[in-house]
Amino acid sequence: PIVTDQLWCSKPDIPADAPLPPSQCCPPMSASPAINFTFPNATEPVRTRRPVHEVGAEYMAKYERLVALMKALPDSDPRSFHQQANIHCAYCTGAYRQVGQPELPVQVHYSWLFFPFHRAYMYFFERIARKLLDDPEFTLPFWSWDIPEGMQIPAEFVNKSSPLYDAFRDPAHQPPKLVDLDFWQMEKNLTGEQQIQHNMWVMYKQIVSSPLPSLFHGQPYRAGDSEKPGAGTAELAPHNTMHAWIGNGWYPNGEDMGAYYTAGRDPIFYLYHSNIDRIWEAWRHIRRAAKGNNSSQTMDFTDHA
Ligand code: C2O
Repeated sequence: PIVTDQLWCSKPDIPADAPLPPSQCCPPMSASPAINFTFPNATEPVRTRRPVHEVGAEYMAKYERLVALMKALPDSDPRSFHQQANIHCAYCTGAYRQVGQPELPVQVHYSWLFFPFHRAYMYFFERIARKLLDDPEFTLPFWSWDIPEGMQIPAEFVNKSSPLYDAFRDPAHQPPKLVDLDFWQMEKNLTGEQQIQHNMWVMYKQIVSSPLPSLFHGQPYRAGDSEKPGAGTAELAPHNTMHAWIGNGWYPNGEDMGAYYTAGRDPIFYLYHSNIDRIWEAWRHIRRAAKGNNSSQTMDFTDHA
């Protein structure tokens, strides 16, 4: 096992029937000590993420170039696509164990760690993107699958010769097939109009009308707790259900997007999660507005405030 400070990373706990087993997914060791995070300078310009269906082909070509650049880096480079994809594997399959408690795996899903973990993941991915593209203004577009304009896999991801292509996706869910935000391994066979209405209903039920922070974010998960105390409404659906919808249902664990150890290998993952990040922020706005407190910059995370 690799030991960093007291954090252990060892062989991941991959399903026995996994068709694509990685031997390990721990990050490469750095010769220098880890640097603590500091918030970016307040004088830095605010950069705005925009939806895939609005950024245009030229902008999407940047994302395509980014993924090509990351895939071209040696696997040992922490910024390589290989290592960035492995981050998801390392924190979700028991490769990390809790400090001083090797019997307890670290798991970033099914608890309140879900939103902040993935936010940090996208944040650093975006910083790598700016560096590699040599474009300080670059932001990750978000695939806005929650509104009708975005309810299909974006065309850029379907071209077999593009670095954005991934062979491990459900062949029945390619465009123009509309997404199903609460897909439970069964096709609903709705008309387009019905599917859109259904998706809007899922968003209303799981996001808009999920007023309690603890229900929305997921259950508390603290050092010494066992994994998966309980997912929030957004994580269960549309988040998990969409992972399953994109991944290939013919593979035993729904690889790539449908399984923790492979989800990050699909280049769509990062734009998919850019939208999850946005939905978190949207929920905070909805809740703030509902409390008639539009000007507040801070958020009250207690249920009964
Ligand atoms: Cu860590 Cu969308 O999953």
